[in-house]
Amino acid sequence: MSSLSPDRLPRHLAIIVDGNGRWANRHGLTRTAGHRAALPSMFVIVNTAIDLGLRNLSLYLFSSENWKREPAEIATIMDIMTNAINGYMPFFETRGVRIRWSGREIDGFPELTDALGNWQERTAGGTGLTLNLCVNYGGRQEIVNAVRHLSAEIAAGNLGPDDIDEDAIVSRLYQPDLPPVDLLIRTSGEKRISNLLLWQSAYAELHFPDRLWPDFTQTDLIDAVETYADRDRRFGGAVDRHPGVEDTGQAQPAPQALEMAKTPATLPVPTGKRVAVLGAGIAGLSAALELAERGYAVTVYERHELGGKARSIPATGSGLPAEHGFRFFPGFYKNLTDTMRRIPFPGNERGTWDNLVATSAYLGARADGSGDAMIPFFPSSPLPPSVYSFTSDTATAIISYLATTISHVPEEEALFGARKFLAYWASCDERRLGQWDKISWNDFLNADKMSVQFQRSFADGMIRNLAAIKSDEASTHSVGLVSEATIWSALGRGNEPGGTVDRVLNGSTDEKLLSPWIDHLRELGVDFKVGWSAEALKVSEGRVTALTLRDSQGGDHITSYDYVISAVPVERFIRLLGRDVLEADPSLAGCRRLRTDWMNGLMFYLKEELPLVHGHVNYVDSPWAITSISQAQFWDRPFSEYHDHTVRDCLSSIISDWFKPGTFNGKAAKDCRPEEIAREAWEQIKAHLNSGGRTVLRDDMLHSWFLDPAIVAPGTPAVTNDSPLFIQSPGSWEDRPESRTAIANLFLAGDWVRTNINVTTMEGANEGARQAVNALLDADGSASPRCTLGELHVAPDFEALKEADRERYRQGLPHALDPEQLVPFSQEVRAG
Ligand code: IPE
Ligand code: IPE
Ligand code: MG
Repeated sequence: MSSLSPDRLPRHLAIIVDGNGRWANRHGLTRTAGHRAALPSMFVIVNTAIDLGLRNLSLYLFSSENWKREPAEIATIMDIMTNAINGYMPFFETRGVRIRWSGREIDGFPELTDALGNWQERTAGGTGLTLNLCVNYGGRQEIVNAVRHLSAEIAAGNLGPDDIDEDAIVSRLYQPDLPPVDLLIRTSGEKRISNLLLWQSAYAELHFPDRLWPDFTQTDLIDAVETYADRDRRFGGAVDRHPGVEDTGQAQPAPQALEMAKTPATLPVPTGKRVAVLGAGIAGLSAALELAERGYAVTVYERHELGGKARSIPATGSGLPAEHGFRFFPGFYKNLTDTMRRIPFPGNERGTWDNLVATSAYLGARADGSGDAMIPFFPSSPLPPSVYSFTSDTATAIISYLATTISHVPEEEALFGARKFLAYWASCDERRLGQWDKISWNDFLNADKMSVQFQRSFADGMIRNLAAIKSDEASTHSVGLVSEATIWSALGRGNEPGGTVDRVLNGSTDEKLLSPWIDHLRELGVDFKVGWSAEALKVSEGRVTALTLRDSQGGDHITSYDYVISAVPVERFIRLLGRDVLEADPSLAGCRRLRTDWMNGLMFYLKEELPLVHGHVNYVDSPWAITSISQAQFWDRPFSEYHDHTVRDCLSSIISDWFKPGTFNGKAAKDCRPEEIAREAWEQIKAHLNSGGRTVLRDDMLHSWFLDPAIVAPGTPAVTNDSPLFIQSPGSWEDRPESRTAIANLFLAGDWVRTNINVTTMEGANEGARQAVNALLDADGSASPRCTLGELHVAPDFEALKEADRERYRQGLPHALDPEQLVPFSQEVRAG
């Protein structure tokens, strides 16, 4: 974002926000809904303008000519504007915005007049962006006004005809101090200026993106501004461009403080030590890369297929790309993404990392007719911390404001939820692990006693997309931590350079990440044994002395390695816990108490592109806890290339609850045949997207579907899940092992070992692998540099409170900010 040098930025950007009506029509909605859908764009664009360092932004919201519309539409527009101004301005004010109103008196809408007037007065001293709202505005009328003023002054004898020059006119416009418009954008593809800032736009560069205003994103604005920065502005003259003089420093990709470790020209010096890595999921591949780069001879054993749960699966019959569940890469990931930068990818400067693309919003779709909640993401660059202190009332106000407006949570509950968040965030680590890890997020929030809206936003909705976890089964420490990281990330804090709150790959995980990764490992000399599984570990005198490995034909091989890294999922690892292993490290018995749950993918291939939102969708009312993402909008290769040209999109969805009865067939997904699963999930999704009389998803759009083959024998009593997901159930931290075990040459990688990120993710798997390799390097007395371990953002705002909490925790007192924790926690822990 900072790549644009300030002198190339438009001094005054004007935007004609257009296309709300057409957006609504396309989605089968009323025009009113279209105007409402425009709000997130407003919020995002103003914030982006601030981040870009723009000084003046005019938004054309209602023209003098718009009075020709139906009274009901006019009333709605006025109402939405009033709410937007009163709702957003407290936040914009903290960002230094100074609001101005250009236009004539608005008859019959005193609330809007008041909102504009009050905020103009209140923010008059703002030193940041000047936000000029053109409401009941007409450019000709503005000039007429100016001319009337001048005539009055001439008539009064204060001015003569010769005094009338351009300056005389400018000084009588609504906002005499605003510079001329440098860049004028009109969304929705219309190519006219409809009476906006006629005088001021005389030399404006014009930009007419096709995007409708409700779909207009941060990226679209940046594109427009970058295009502007590249244009030659002649102002009537003839300017030659001097290559190399003017061109410097703009429209380049933002210089990142990211290091792209170059693949060593020569292979690393062999250590002569052999390592067996068990499992080729993200954990195994991550460990293999770290080890191979340090000269270890690595053999990776994988029972099934390389890539584990992260791999893409060609759908049976069509070969269309499918997956166990969509992947996403939050901005606060620092380990996996570091690995991604070290995996070369043709044409990419920063390896596979450059295949990540940012999403810009999140949709909470509802089936109950109460309206969808579209949450735009804050711009990626950090807001100055002075803007919000999360320990202050502002924070609670912002969180509860979002919860009440977006999720219709009753005000008191929203405040309660916001305070609960603060209590977790301001808890010392001892309390996080000793108290919060032991209770479920649901219990922490008292969610069972709250409204449905509260449950959906604070309890379940909040976390479903983060890790497909359920609030009654996940520990407070896990959900609290990941939501903390997500909220910081959304505010631009704690992200890796270039990281935004939610990113996805621009193609299938295999093409864009795993195949290049595996190829790279092979080049580094890593040997892959696919179809091989580890069956037993023999431990004597505190070391693994032999490994029993079963090959793809079922033959057993007993071999030994200097070191063993187990990177298999927990349900596989516990099979290796024989008597001698447990004798050598009794703490590993805790692994048997760790739990897994079902979260599996279901792909719907569509005959048309259906970008529901530029990001993930949560079907809030779906009993099967369904989430999805429309992939085509992010992929650089069209879906039509994969199969027979008829497929255009994949609605890649995840079913996170396999045990609750469906809305339509009344059965749990676990008890359904594959066709029943697909039919029911499709109907649940449709009920959300088509609620309120719209038709967004139609049966004739469906080309085919594909269910994750990890669901084995579906529809029979013998159904099993071959790839369940580890869950951080309450109390699980105590049972989770460290990467270093008491067995000198055995190390554990995977998302289920203790990691900082503490939630089942590719990031956790990668972090676990780094810890395991570091422990191995220590055991080997290696002089190689240790793997870096990216850390989560530690908010300075909370340090003092955490310190104070440490003392309270030692005394057995509840957290000082906890709004309802009245019983001493020691009792509660004992009860649980
Ligand atoms: C722009 O959207 C918003 C206002 C004029 C208030 P429109 O309502 O003009 O949308 P279209 O042009 O009908 O699509
Ligand atoms: C122009 O929008 C005015 C605003 C964006 C407020 P319209 O959509 O009403 O303009 P025309 O009538 O299509 O030119
Ligand atoms: Mg219009």
